[in-house]
Amino acid sequence: MKRCCTRWNDRQKAGKRILCLLMACLLLTGCQGTRKEEEKNSIRIGISLYRGDDTFINNIRNELEEQAKEYERENGIKVTLDIQDAKGSQNTQNNQVERFISLGCDVLCINPVDRMDASVIIDKAMTAGVPVVFFNRQPVEEDMNRWDQLYYIGVDAKETAVLQGQIIVDLYREDPLAVDINGDGVVSYVMLEGESSHQDSLIRTEWSVQTLKDGGVPIEKITGGIANWERSQASALMEQWLGEYPETIELVVSNNDDMALGAIDALSRAGITEVNVIGIDGTIPGIEAIENGKLLGTVSANKEVYGSAIMELAASCALGVEPPGEYPLTDGTYYWPPQEILVHNTDG
Ligand code: GAL
Repeated sequence: MKRCCTRWNDRQKAGKRILCLLMACLLLTGCQGTRKEEEKNSIRIGISLYRGDDTFINNIRNELEEQAKEYERENGIKVTLDIQDAKGSQNTQNNQVERFISLGCDVLCINPVDRMDASVIIDKAMTAGVPVVFFNRQPVEEDMNRWDQLYYIGVDAKETAVLQGQIIVDLYREDPLAVDINGDGVVSYVMLEGESSHQDSLIRTEWSVQTLKDGGVPIEKITGGIANWERSQASALMEQWLGEYPETIELVVSNNDDMALGAIDALSRAGITEVNVIGIDGTIPGIEAIENGKLLGTVSANKEVYGSAIMELAASCALGVEPPGEYPLTDGTYYWPPQEILVHNTDG
């Protein structure tokens, strides 16, 4: 029995030696792996856009491409962007994510089609160990809390709305009749809303109106409707309202610039120039409309910072290093790019 035990001890010793050898091998491989990480001089980023024909998203896409070039120049790391358009289909986007992962993307930047249904993307990314930077369409908190390699970048919707309301509050304080055009003591407005499921539509609608009230502008809502961020849909709605409420509308509050431009299209067709229209985004066509005096004002997200924050965060995920300090993350997860008011300069 004893001998038997001794024999087992010998075997155990031999086993231990083999185990040590194995561990040494593993450690060595681990080190080599780390060395490989350190030497990583190229990264591949898979980007999926909810709709490539959305003006604001297009502006962000262009900025991302610029920032990727800038990142390459500054860091000597080759950046490959694989940009896909999900064309409004969550199913298509899920397939794109699968393809990105099979192509060996180091990180994914996703502008989700259905922000309430990011779980399939998260499942795939988690299984493959590929971090995800969501942007512009914020997944629900429950999904975001599923993994510490999930991030979100997008403007703060309440801040946007308060700034938008402020455009009118400031003008009203300066010259009430510039807002209350018919001078009846009430500013009659219509509201153009984005997609009903988008966090920005709900919060912007609520807080722009609240800011007007808090700022002492005597407002009265005539009507409102959902135009899904689209210029043509907004134009059709506005045309209908101009017919239903002739000579009543003094102000158009729009959840984004494209819909504001749609309202302006309808106003132009009707030969109306005095109605104030305000938007959000600071898109290129939006800024042009401010310059030529058709759009009173907008709230512009700083696209350079927006694009750079996505790029830098994605690159740090891909390289497995700390997130960039210049874009501090709230709760280690969220970054809100800065925004500013742009208004038509009546002196210029
Ligand atoms: C909003 C933006 C809209 C539209 C939308 C798409 O933040 O204001 O113009 O781009 O995102 O998700």
